[in-house]
Parts: sequence; C-alpha cells; structure tokens
Amino acid sequence: MCPPTNFVVEYAINAWMDTSVPVDTDLAVKQWSVLRDTAIDLGHQVHVLEPQSTLPDMVFAANGAFSIDGVAYGARFRFAQRTAEAALHRAFYESRPDEWHFVEPTTINEGEGDFAYVPGAHGGVILAGHGFRTEPTAHIEAQEALNRPVISLRLVDPRFYHLDTALAAIDDDNIVYYPGAFSASSQAVLRQLFPDAIHATEDDAVAFGLNLVSDGQHVLINSESVALAERLAALGYQPIPIDLSELKKGGGSVKCCMAELRA
Ligand code: ARG
Repeated sequence: MCPPTNFVVEYAINAWMDTSVPVDTDLAVKQWSVLRDTAIDLGHQVHVLEPQSTLPDMVFAANGAFSIDGVAYGARFRFAQRTAEAALHRAFYESRPDEWHFVEPTTINEGEGDFAYVPGAHGGVILAGHGFRTEPTAHIEAQEALNRPVISLRLVDPRFYHLDTALAAIDDDNIVYYPGAFSASSQAVLRQLFPDAIHATEDDAVAFGLNLVSDGQHVLINSESVALAERLAALGYQPIPIDLSELKKGGGSVKCCMAELRA
C-alpha cells in the first residue's frame, strides 16, 4: 500500500477523474488509514511504499505488479503521468531477493489492475483484462512469467477500465463480476469457467463494489456498495464497508489501494 499523502486529481486518465472537482487530501489519508488498519487488524502484514510528491496516483498500489509464488511480474503504465511508479514497485521486490524474483515486462500492463488470480479454480487460473490499459501481449508474457493459464477478457465499458473495477476473486474458487463490463464473448468465457460466479449489477459496479479485497471470509468493500455487501453477507461472507469517497475521485477504491503479495 502507499498512503495518499500527495493524492490530487490534476490530470484525467479515466472516466471518473474530473480535474474541476476538489479533493480533500487529508480526508483521503484518513480514509486510507482506516483501510490499512483494518487489513492489519485482520492479521495481514502490510508493507507501505514511500509516497512521491510528483506521483499523485501512487496510492493505487495495485497497479505496480502482479505476483504469484514469489514471482512478481512488473508493470508498465499506459500513461506518462504514472510511468515512474513502476520502478518504485520494482525496487520493493528487488530489495527482497530472498522472497521475490522480479520479471520486467516488455509491454504495457497495469499489474493487479488488470490481472486477478483464482488459486483454486482449474488448478490456478489468471484472469486478465484488456481493452483500455493492459495490452493483450502482456497476457502472454504473464503466462510465461507465472506458469499459469491466462484467460484474456475484453473490457468494453470505459467506466470499468481496469479488470479490478469489474471483477474480483471472492475466495479461492469463485469470482464476483459485472457481466456488462465485458464483451459478449468474454461473458461467455466467464460463464463457462465460473458457472457459479456471483453476478453483480451495474449499480454495484458503479459504486465500486467489485473493487474489493477478500481473504475468502472477510470482504473489504467500498461502503457505497450496500446492495452487494448485503448479498455477500447472505452468502456467508463478512463484508467490511470502507469509506473511500475521496479516492473514488481518482477512479479507484479498496482493491486499487492494495497490491496483494503472493510470496
Ligand atoms: N487514477 C488511476 C488511473 O487511472 C486509478 C487507478 C485505479 N487502480 C486500479 N487498480 N483500478 O490509473
């Protein structure tokens, strides 16, 4: 994670960012701190990157890499405003050579923004988004780096420009997603691979409810996503609502703030 100490919306690279809407950076830091503390209280170890004044989107740490089994496949950002973030994530992994093998990408991909892992499904499968940020060639590269099948999914709605705004692993075996964010063919692929998936509504997706982090039991979920949280609770999960209203102005929520480290 990386605190939003320098978070502002001074450029617009997704449909949610509006440079004319003011951001309360102090409130963003407070909200982010609740998310960090909640993760720690749940027993997770949290590493914190040093925020850089020139990189307001660094708070969206999920975009810096995608890791499985101690291999971190690095990011290469689509937009110049975020390019420099990749090296800071790379430095994190390379400073822990006993734990991580870092693979430098040759093509554009935005880490966990566009890659999700479902360890218990089909022997361990990677779901990968393209259409707005990550190049499909990065899907091939990720498969070679991480030794898992990569399923390419085409995103078609600019509001859901990263996979993690439209789909999440809810536990080791299953996913929750908003079908309308995907092309008809990709919807068919998801139905085939995950017949028991939870289908979220457009309202759930607009409330950033899919941008969640689940440990299989506790689900950290944007507090605006009330309906989806209620459905997850009825299915036996424990949703924990987190208010990230300020970060939503940057086009992100819970998941965007957390790079999961699968060492
Ligand atoms: N403003 C950031 C961008 O457009 C938001 C990134 C959100 N991160 C994510 N994992 N979806 O790149």
